[in-house]
Amino acid sequence: MLDVAFADEKAINLFDVKRAVDTLTMHVLAAGIFGQDLDFNGGRQRVAAHNRKSLEVTQRWILQQLLWIILFGNLKIPAFLRTFLPSTIREVLETKEDYQRYMAEFAEELQYNDDKTKSATNLITTIIQSNDKAREDKLVATGRRMYLTDHELYANLFILNMAGFETTATTLGFTIPYLAAYPAVQRWLVEEIDSVTKERNSNLYDEVFPQLTRMMAVMYETLRLRGALQHSFKVNPENQTLELSDRELVIPGNTYFGVNAASLSRDPQYWGPDSEAWRPSRWIEQDSDTGKESLKDAPEGTIFVPWTVGPRVCPGKKFSQVEFTGTILTILSRHRLEAQAVSEAMHVLPIDPHQRIKSRHDAFAL
Ligand code: HEM
Repeated sequence: MLDVAFADEKAINLFDVKRAVDTLTMHVLAAGIFGQDLDFNGGRQRVAAHNRKSLEVTQRWILQQLLWIILFGNLKIPAFLRTFLPSTIREVLETKEDYQRYMAEFAEELQYNDDKTKSATNLITTIIQSNDKAREDKLVATGRRMYLTDHELYANLFILNMAGFETTATTLGFTIPYLAAYPAVQRWLVEEIDSVTKERNSNLYDEVFPQLTRMMAVMYETLRLRGALQHSFKVNPENQTLELSDRELVIPGNTYFGVNAASLSRDPQYWGPDSEAWRPSRWIEQDSDTGKESLKDAPEGTIFVPWTVGPRVCPGKKFSQVEFTGTILTILSRHRLEAQAVSEAMHVLPIDPHQRIKSRHDAFAL
């Protein structure tokens, strides 16, 4: 993927990094959720029959216009009346239908092609198989059906795709420049990667992933400073009693409350005077006898909740950790990242005009 994304470039800027990790993340989701192994050379650019745009263009548009989709995506307007709608609303409805057709097409392909006796290796097959079974068994609990209608199934796949895209892409999009800007951290991480992947044929998920403690520390540290969810708002439907150390606190039903994740993960009172610095080693503790490293919890008094916690914890937490690990491990197994001062790029790099990233190896192939 990286060879294809940057084949002609000697050095890349922060926008190129974001563009590449966006494309990567979309492909991972297409494979993990839909079992679609699309090639990087245009697989997602194919425009399917009956659709106006490719899956990639459709998905990018939806992400950029998410608010419009939420506001107007469910309008039921007959086709003959659509010409009278403002063009943006028409685009919202048509793009949403394009997207649903792609999902339906993938689902249909899987139903025809999949060997039902095999265990599923992608999410959509798992969901469809469990849902079909629940539907056949007419599963009902406390008077409510326990299976999804087709519409609900597609809505869930849509949410999975949306929730899994920007979050992971942003985490990778920040981590790659951080590693370039902090060469000592990069060397520290490479040391771990090299020692864990010495066995060339190791299985990434079962054997390598659990041993990459520094890798997870790097991910945590990026999420601590650049977490996708900075504020989370919830409402409790009924009165709720919280047991505090010295008293009980009753929160009346229908109270909106927010969790300020940004402040929880940066407050110097808990994280120390360098709380604003990107320092992944803060997450590591070492056993004094064995020298073995393990991940530390957040400091006492605060909480680290980038995926939230409790019954609504992010269901893609492990998925994102494995995706992050696979991506960074692949890059650092073959390349080193280096930040380069380039003044001519100042006008296109509003984040930090002096930072560019280049490979230390041959012609560029980040
Ligand atoms: C670093 C990556 C990720 C982060 C930081 C993250 C974070 C979160 C957070 C904080 C929530 C809860 C939002 C709230 O309660 O207001 C959430 C929900 C969710 N996430 Fe993730 N997520 C990540 C990756 C993924 C991936 C890869 C997937 C899917 C493959 C995914 C699927 C979902 C879904 C479906 C929900 C909604 C769950 C519900 O409504 O109960 N996430 N995520």
